[in-house]
Amino acid sequence: MKVLVSGGTGYIGSHTVVELMNLGYEVVIVDNLYNSQLEVLDKIKQLTNNKALKFYEADCSDLTVIEPIFIEEKIDAIIHFAGYKAVGESVAKPLKYYQNNLNTTMVLAMMAEKYKVQNFIFSSSATVYGEGVSPLVETMDLKETSNPYGETKKMSERILRDFAKNNPDMKITLLRYFNPIGAHKSGLIGEKPQGIPNNLMPYVTQVAKGIREKLFVFGNDYDTVDGTGVRDYIHVVDLAKGHIAALKGSKDNVNIYNLGSGVGTSVLELIQTFEKVNHIKIPYEIVDRRPGDLATVYADVNKAKKELNWQTELTIEDMVKDAWRFENNLK
Ligand code: NAD
Ligand code: WQD
Repeated sequence: MKVLVSGGTGYIGSHTVVELMNLGYEVVIVDNLYNSQLEVLDKIKQLTNNKALKFYEADCSDLTVIEPIFIEEKIDAIIHFAGYKAVGESVAKPLKYYQNNLNTTMVLAMMAEKYKVQNFIFSSSATVYGEGVSPLVETMDLKETSNPYGETKKMSERILRDFAKNNPDMKITLLRYFNPIGAHKSGLIGEKPQGIPNNLMPYVTQVAKGIREKLFVFGNDYDTVDGTGVRDYIHVVDLAKGHIAALKGSKDNVNIYNLGSGVGTSVLELIQTFEKVNHIKIPYEIVDRRPGDLATVYADVNKAKKELNWQTELTIEDMVKDAWRFENNLK
């Protein structure tokens, strides 16, 4: 089975490619390297026993460069990761986000229809639930999100649901990721943000490395266990495996699954675990809440467990250990 992975040199994409290839899937990566580096391909090769891997440096929102790839390769399934993901930037540059995140989805859906690709998996996000109350269940109505990035995910879901109706034989799967962190245990691939990290885990590892002086904890007056924000962190390798479970197990025309651990962890709990596991102190300062942040977000994971036979296996300890190993290996 040949799988086209858009955004396959990125953080979640690269881990998914490794899992796919090690299970014998043929992989074609399409990525324009907007937020990833070519050297990731060498790392993937090291992690997959040098198996053959096709790579196209191409923009998935440009039909004229994407169609020839579908003509050349006989694609059986698409896993669509390509997109922009910085929430704050999406507020400052909404059109950039709508343009890229919606057009990549539409171009790939058009190609799936024209070239009869039966399986389409889309990277959605827990952010589509907006201010919904946790545990978040797939059947909930989606509330307005606080930023354009979140809206691109909701709109992409809507586009794909409408598209599915006209393609009843296709299997469209919308995977709503919670908070992916950690890295491959080899330390070869992981999350490498450009500039100042927006997300908690890469910020913490950069503080541990001495790149940043201290962590700013965004608020300690939420109604949570210790006042700091609670999230559902999922190891990126568990998340990658969730895509393979969805590829095999999605049965309906439209399938929606939360991919999370089902457990909430606060910012301070994550820091304490990091310190304990890695024996490194993380200096931090409590500052104001970050606009748009919610107190508590975690998944109801029963649907994926029951229908895909998938659940997370790795712990918060694994996540902080692997995240640190990757950061520490970086030059
Ligand atoms: P990432 O930035 O590491 O990977 C995305 C990849 O897509 C990058 O390699 C980038 O170069 C590529 N890309 C962007 N626009 C492209 C285009 N027009 N054509 C071709 N390639 C393009 O991000 P990630 O963390 O791996 O996220 C993957 C997907 O999962 C994204 O759609 C993201 O919105 C979604 N998601 C991420 C998270 C998270 O916390 N990381 C959570 C929920 C959902
Ligand atoms: C986690 C917790 C912060 C940084 C975002 C997107 C979401 C999804 C995942 C793509 C919160 C706190 C953070 C810092 C802190 N991405 N924090 N200091 O906001 O849950 O989700 O990434 O779809 O859409 O919104 O993740 O890692 O930014 O924050 O105190 O320097 O850490 O307030 O409680 P978030 P995060």
